[in-house]
Amino acid sequence: MILRLLPALFVVTACSLLPASKSGREQYFRTQVKPVLQQHCLQCHNGSLPPPVLNLTSKAAAFKRSASGRDYILPGDPDCSLLISAVQRGGTHPKMMPRTEVSLTEDQIGALREWIEDGAYWPDGEQGMLRAQRSGENP
Ligand code: HEC
Repeated sequence: MILRLLPALFVVTACSLLPASKSGREQYFRTQVKPVLQQHCLQCHNGSLPPPVLNLTSKAAAFKRSASGRDYILPGDPDCSLLISAVQRGGTHPKMMPRTEVSLTEDQIGALREWIEDGAYWPDGEQGMLRAQRSGENP
């Protein structure tokens, strides 16, 4: 009983910081997710790599599956999302991303995890269009 309860408690704790409303999710994507992807991933994952390599330029492209049929982004399940295993230290993916001198911080990885955990909200329209960006530029 206790063992069954513990993971549930953990999930409740881990989710308590998550935004509940749609505007909260919009803000979380705009401030915590989009800048990280734009600054660290879009220089390569911008559609120039031949499909089915992950393309992060739009929601429709980003939610496609990998060549092996796995999800890059599986809403609600960061542990089954290839995007997370690719960036996570000690993750299951053999190739560390991003392939630059800059790795993501624990906070950035945590933000991506929370975002997927909370349903991976990705807005339509201009807000959901991503392009490469250097750090310091406005999203
Ligand atoms: C300097 C270029 C570059 C950057 C920056 C980069 N990637 Fe990649 N990534 C690649 C290439 C090339 C591949 C595909 C070929 C391969 O896996 O050998 C790839 C593959 C992947 C895959 C697929 C792995 C799989 O198992 O199919 C994921 C997921 C991924 N990248 C996520 C990211 C994320 C998230 C970021 C940003 C945090 C990022 N990458 C930054 C070049 C890059």
